[in-house]
Amino acid sequence: MGRKQAGALRDRNVYTKRFDRHFEELRWLYMELYDNGSMFAELCDNLECFYNERGQALKALDEKREAHAQWYRQNDMLGMMLYIDNFAKDLSGVRQKLDYIKRCHVNYIHLMPFLDSPKGRSDGGYAVADFRKVQPELGTMADLEKLTEACRQENISVCMDFVMNHTSEDHEWAKRARQGEGEYMSRYFFYDNGEIPAEYEKTVPQVFPTTAPGNFTWLPDAGHYVMTSFYPYQWDLNYRNPRVFNEMMYNFLFLANKGIDIIRIDAVPYIWKELHTQCRNLKQVHTIVRMMRMISEIVCPGVLLLGEVVMEPEKVVPYFGTIEKPECHMLYNVTTMATTWHTVATRNVGLLKKQLDIVNALPKEYVFLNYLRCHDDIGWGLDYDTLRTYGMEERSHKDYLNQYFQGYAGESNSRGELYNADPVTGDARFCGTTASMCGIEKALSMKDDEALQRAVRLDVMLHAYMFMQSGIPVLYSGDEIGQCNDYAYKNDADKAADSRYIHRGALDWEAVGRIDEAGSAEAEIFGRLGQLESIRKSEKAFVSVADTWTIDTGDASVLCIARRYEGEEIIGIFNFSEHDKTVHMEEIGGKCLDMISGQYREGMEAELTAYGFCYWKLSDQ
Ligand code: GLC
Repeated sequence: MGRKQAGALRDRNVYTKRFDRHFEELRWLYMELYDNGSMFAELCDNLECFYNERGQALKALDEKREAHAQWYRQNDMLGMMLYIDNFAKDLSGVRQKLDYIKRCHVNYIHLMPFLDSPKGRSDGGYAVADFRKVQPELGTMADLEKLTEACRQENISVCMDFVMNHTSEDHEWAKRARQGEGEYMSRYFFYDNGEIPAEYEKTVPQVFPTTAPGNFTWLPDAGHYVMTSFYPYQWDLNYRNPRVFNEMMYNFLFLANKGIDIIRIDAVPYIWKELHTQCRNLKQVHTIVRMMRMISEIVCPGVLLLGEVVMEPEKVVPYFGTIEKPECHMLYNVTTMATTWHTVATRNVGLLKKQLDIVNALPKEYVFLNYLRCHDDIGWGLDYDTLRTYGMEERSHKDYLNQYFQGYAGESNSRGELYNADPVTGDARFCGTTASMCGIEKALSMKDDEALQRAVRLDVMLHAYMFMQSGIPVLYSGDEIGQCNDYAYKNDADKAADSRYIHRGALDWEAVGRIDEAGSAEAEIFGRLGQLESIRKSEKAFVSVADTWTIDTGDASVLCIARRYEGEEIIGIFNFSEHDKTVHMEEIGGKCLDMISGQYREGMEAELTAYGFCYWKLSDQ
């Protein structure tokens, strides 16, 4: 047998083993949902084709990762989300900037949506017209492969969005459906009169109550309503149709084979629709995600699934599946993020401590992505039952937070804008960058140096606290230099109505140039975050499976988080108030290393400047 034949035989054996491991369960779930043996057979044939097409370098990485299933749970994981055009114009620009990404200590980049999407009707790229084509201004599929290959050389993982809930109205299926081709209409939700849409509206909440009210769009040319949970140009796919499921799985595998390491399943709770329900988190969604997990474990086990579930913890956690039957590898820690900003506005860590305790009590196999800001708005999804016991009502508290972060209420230095203020419910969400929300924008505009120092301290403290949480921290591009809000979107007719663009500005490379200028705010933030990132990467107590818990500090504004792994223990203490604080930490006696100054210290008193923090490593010395 020649070398080539032996390689092919080996590949086949690897595939067969993976396939056999999942076949029974996959068939069972597929038949339960679709009861269609020939479509299942087609799916299986295609899985093998995608496996055969998968490059040898990716197959080798798959095996390496299979053998080391903890690979993404280490303390070296640090993510960054970026828009390709904002960051470096196009895909090859990003490739040329990998040195900067490495300088940020980042080893996983989330490339915001880059697939073909119509101008002006793209929802930031979340309306995909072709799952196999890159937006021409950003490059080509070949450029994407070049980038993922270069990232692989540098041990940087690449994440992309897989927008599976809907397609753009410009997608070929949508165009053919619009022309009345039944085969394609059945891939969406079409109704020739308003009766069923009206029934749905009774129970389905609205995603964009102001910018895109309602869940259906009337198509006068087609004489039909089509379901559009998001914008009218984003048509919901009908996963009751096995053709939709199969084809979308082929698209997923096509993209995985381009060298993508992490697939972010966009808007996953929405993918199954059922009349008289909220059309969120239905059990069929979990069947689909579980099938997707098995499909990836068969074809490309090195690929991770990241679920986008922007909901309260009880709804997020089921997307991990069970230990025996896992679904997503990673999920966003969204409630903690929102609660963090609530804490900034109230200077009271009570609710945050409770929220962290909930997350810390979950099985350690669950990996959360922690973040301060992302490309979307902040919805005030807080634990209002608990807040009520503090005397805070949902309606008035949301109003307060929105007022506060616009800079109108309380002792606020924040700047930003409301998002989707709903005239009916009175609800609104909030947009702004971390730096602007911390007061950097206001301090700069007022040329107030002291205020700037304080705002930078708050910004750095929030990152230090985020790095202490259980899971993987993800930076939002620009936050590493404290980039402020960008109001230019108001002059762009395609963006003006969507205030999320306030925090989607182009990276200011001139400001990046100042990271080496001692005394600049950019150098201060970049340098201090860099120090925290180095600490995190060098201390094993930061691995994802470490024990993590909170400790009461006796001060309503001061939070303490502890982590322990293999006998090593680290404590982080964070002051969420603008006043200097001294807290007495009963539980921490003896000598410990102040990891920021590098000096040993003794005693139970922690002295914190306004918005200051400390990282201590407990030691027996
Ligand atoms: C996700 C994205 C958001 C987008 C929506 C619709 O929630 O994060 O930006 O508007 O999906 O695809």
